Amino acid sequence: MDRCVSMRADNESPRKISRDDTGGRRLNVVSLFSGAGGLDVGLAAAGFDLLFENDINSYCCKTLEAAGKILPQMKDAEIVCGDIKNISGTRILQHVRALGKEVDLLAGGPPCQAFSVFGNRKGREDARGQMVDEYFRILGEIAPPAFVFENVFGLLTVQNGEVFKLVKEKLAHPTDTLEYDIRVFRLNAVDYGVPQFRDRIIIIGSRLGTNVTDIPKVAFVNPKEGQLRYRTVRDGLRNLPPPNARSPSIHTGRVHGDAVIHRYDAMEPGARDVHTRINRLDLDRPSFTIICGSEHSGGKGHVHPTEPREVTPRESARMQTFPDWWPFYGVGRHAIRQVGNAVPALLAFAIGNEIRSQIFGLKKIAFKRGVRFLGQEHLFQ
Ligand SMILES: C[S@@+](CC[C@H](N)C(=O)[O-])C[C@H]1O[C@@H](n2cnc3c(N)ncnc32)[C@H](O)[C@@H]1O
Repeated sequence: MDRCVSMRADNESPRKISRDDTGGRRLNVVSLFSGAGGLDVGLAAAGFDLLFENDINSYCCKTLEAAGKILPQMKDAEIVCGDIKNISGTRILQHVRALGKEVDLLAGGPPCQAFSVFGNRKGREDARGQMVDEYFRILGEIAPPAFVFENVFGLLTVQNGEVFKLVKEKLAHPTDTLEYDIRVFRLNAVDYGVPQFRDRIIIIGSRLGTNVTDIPKVAFVNPKEGQLRYRTVRDGLRNLPPPNARSPSIHTGRVHGDAVIHRYDAMEPGARDVHTRINRLDLDRPSFTIICGSEHSGGKGHVHPTEPREVTPRESARMQTFPDWWPFYGVGRHAIRQVGNAVPALLAFAIGNEIRSQIFGLKKIAFKRGVRFLGQEHLFQ
């Protein structure tokens, strides 16, 4: 298992981020299945310090290493690049204790393919089915006061709900002697200021006697209509220059042939392309769910709302509320997969903020402050 070597990433110049941006007492988090760190950076905005991160994908690990050079909240994180099966709770705790700290929160979401096989007769023999078991194992080994487990909403219905029942049981009782109070939330990122429909299951566990009972939607009142106004693709893309020959690779799109350009050009906003099964974004609506496509197909973005091309990974990252300075490592499908797999940072901020206040009794961080931390001011202009 390698500890990643830090490499210069292809990002825009990072803003200086002060450790005081979140104010108050710090909380410590161990992150599993960290990906490109969408969940992690949102938790950092909510006042958490990352102490440990793991992913098997070397591009993700290099992104996390580069992020650790920018974000003070990640500077102490040990980033282990390799299979989670080879990581023990003891190893994680050794690092945490060497820093003189304790774990407050375990965070992460096993890859969702896990649930198509988990619970099958063959589930435990299939490598993907074992990923969720690895989360339970590490939860049992480090026994943090609280955890957050994220996944696709389809988890609710796999095998008529049997899989979900099993997941809840294991999270409530990861070992014979460990017990968590668990709360299940079905959240849509669009309700939390994210310019994208993205439906997710969040399970929060606590053994402190307090737990999160509500994750209030962020109500942006439209003064004209007096109702909740979703952020749109227009808000998400605001102030982002279109890609050009000098754009960094993360903001460079795929090259299309004439036939594809003609097809995309003829699509109405919201329409679906029958060949690629991607949608044309509508400037005045939230984005369709950002996806990543298969490892082999080169990744998938949606069709740009006003130009006959697919969006760049940076444009998709805007829909996922990653800051523009987030240093995605790699080009093409590597970047698209990191972006498409992530928890939107603003959604993670909202979840972290409720854990911070409702479980740990700390003052909430103002929404505006989280927005500023994550460089999302463009959404609210
Ligand atoms: C849904 S993504 C996580 C996204 C992340 N929470 C975020 O917000 O950016 C799941 C991650 O699990 C990683 N993964 C899959 N199998 C793994 C394994 N055996 N060990 C460690 N990580 C693994 C994948 O590389 C992928 O990045």
